[in-house]
Amino acid sequence: MKSVSHYPFSVALLHWLLAVALIGNIIIGWMLDDHEDLLALHKSIGILILALVAVRLANRRRVRNILPRSINALETAAHFAEKAVHGMLYMLMTAIPLLGWMKTNAAGHTASFFGFISLPTLVPMNRELSHWLGELHALSAYGLAALVGLHVLGVLAHWAFKSENLLPRILSFRRPAARQRAPFLDR
Ligand code: HEM
Ligand code: HEM
Repeated sequence: MKSVSHYPFSVALLHWLLAVALIGNIIIGWMLDDHEDLLALHKSIGILILALVAVRLANRRRVRNILPRSINALETAAHFAEKAVHGMLYMLMTAIPLLGWMKTNAAGHTASFFGFISLPTLVPMNRELSHWLGELHALSAYGLAALVGLHVLGVLAHWAFKSENLLPRILSFRRPAARQRAPFLDR
């Protein structure tokens, strides 16, 4: 296996926190038909996800100069696929909770965070809009599930076909002794 550099601890921590929260909330979303009592929990976890995504994006910007170089060579299809999948994952993890929040408002409800904080109303009550926002919310959640599958397949493909184990790059829960600080040009 080739030795690889690490993502900073904060990036790794937010990656795994959000992976668990996102996959958990997709599963809760799928259970809503039979367990309506889970809806409030689903919404609150979704709002927590939105807040964590904001922290993740701000943090990624903060550490942008010490991110490891992409494992894929520049201008290859694999590099393009990696950037496209990561970009779409970021887009969907932002859009899905916002769509859920707007759907809730359009259905005539206020979104709340674990009953403590009532969130502002983003769109007025509108039955038709509520239906379409619900459809979009569900569709993008399925899209996210598919992309996560692709993302994991990509990691597996590197391991199977190129003998590259990428997991240690995003498992940096201990700070590496010497972090490479070369000015990478491929971001
Ligand atoms: C909802 C689930 C997930 C999302 C949204 C997600 C998203 C991302 C994103 C955006 C990155 C790029 C680094 C960053 O900006 O943080 C990344 C990196 C990575 N993810 Fe995930 N991920 C998810 C689940 C998983 C799972 C289940 C695995 C297990 C195989 C995994 C393995 C990795 C690895 C190994 C990297 C480092 C890739 C590299 O070498 O550059 N991810 N992930
Ligand atoms: C990233 C976070 C979220 C994920 C991954 C997610 C995922 C899902 C999924 C998979 C469903 C079931 C869709 C179906 O099969 O019909 C669902 C339903 C729903 N979600 Fe979310 N959701 C998230 C955040 C939110 C938020 C923040 C809210 C509101 C504040 C919300 C409100 C709803 C509502 C009201 C439904 C029922 C939709 C309907 O019956 O049309 N979700 N969600």
